[in-house]
Amino acid sequence: MPRIVRPSAFGGPDVLTVHQVDIPTPGPGEVVVNVRAAGVNPLDWKLYSGAFHDVDDEEKDAAGLAEALPRLGMDCAGVVTSIGSDVEGVEVGDEVIVYPVTAAYADYVTVDASSLIPKPTRLGWEEAGALMLAGLTAAHAIHAAGVEPGDTVLIHGGAGGVGLMAVQLAVDLGASVIATAAPRNHRLIRELGATPVAYGDGLANRVRDAAPDGVDAAIDAVGSDEALDVSLELVADPARIASITGSDRRLGTGIKLLGYGPGQDAGIEYRNSVREHLAELAGAGNVRVIVAKTFPLTEAAQAHEFGQSGGGTGKIVLLP
Ligand SMILES: NC(=O)c1ccc[n+]([C@@H]2O[C@H](COP(=O)([O-])OP(=O)(O)OC[C@H]3O[C@@H](n4cnc5c(N)ncnc54)[C@H](OP(=O)(O)O)[C@@H]3O)[C@@H](O)[C@H]2O)c1
Repeated sequence: MPRIVRPSAFGGPDVLTVHQVDIPTPGPGEVVVNVRAAGVNPLDWKLYSGAFHDVDDEEKDAAGLAEALPRLGMDCAGVVTSIGSDVEGVEVGDEVIVYPVTAAYADYVTVDASSLIPKPTRLGWEEAGALMLAGLTAAHAIHAAGVEPGDTVLIHGGAGGVGLMAVQLAVDLGASVIATAAPRNHRLIRELGATPVAYGDGLANRVRDAAPDGVDAAIDAVGSDEALDVSLELVADPARIASITGSDRRLGTGIKLLGYGPGQDAGIEYRNSVREHLAELAGAGNVRVIVAKTFPLTEAAQAHEFGQSGGGTGKIVLLP
């Protein structure tokens, strides 16, 4: 019988529970996809942790976060198994990436047909299932920071799921990229065409050494005070700093805040408009989805524990 993973309460990963459900039936304009791989994102565990309880209702509604207990799984890829009425250009058996989606920790997911992006044949299931949320967030951050060919851009958290995509997209764009990462990830950052620097005390000077002509733009994929302070110190125009993590200190600084919290721009239209391009880049091998570890769907709780421990480099993927 098909399974879905849901939180049974707010809390830590131990609240994740596997339920048996029927195979869904698509309504008008919808399709059902048999999920082959579902990407895990930090937002998933933040959702059932209760971290969003103090976000006001209007913002929670816009983000789909207003439910008592959230659905999990905002990234996946799979095979179309049934098609509702009023859907054109989709066939049973199509291999697709699905985004946006809100309940992908499952064997089957029902989505609006507009959520389907053709899966490039050269892209594996694990990579396809973990591409969109991190990749589109990275693309949005690069766009918001106005990164152009020839720019020097500082990316904080370059070895995270979003950071690895931002590094590659900025390099692909023709920017010169400096990325902060733990020393164990420096070799990977170099392989991707960027200059790694360790985060921590003295970061601003290390970045100055790596970019003697200055830094034009910065992307904060970490959320630390250090990432904010060093970006403001090194980038002349705060509007060319984009942060994907909110914090009270970031409000009112003039930097671009991306996401669903107070003062943030979710960029839904922009992100949706670059989905196909991102899939093409990944299919052509111009950006790599680096997978840290895969887990069976039934081990979603272990996957979240692994993610929260910060043990791996790259995306965590659930395989139903
Ligand atoms: N606004 C949005 O739309 C949006 C979308 C996606 C994600 N997010 C948020 O963005 C953040 C990153 O997401 P993610 O998926 O990339 O997470 P992730 O895959 O867990 O990566 C986080 C990375 O941060 C690095 N890191 C940890 N402490 C650091 C520090 N003090 N300084 C610099 N780097 C540090 C780690 O790299 P090392 O191993 O090198 O230490 C780690 O790989 C999360 O808070 C997530 O919720 C927001």
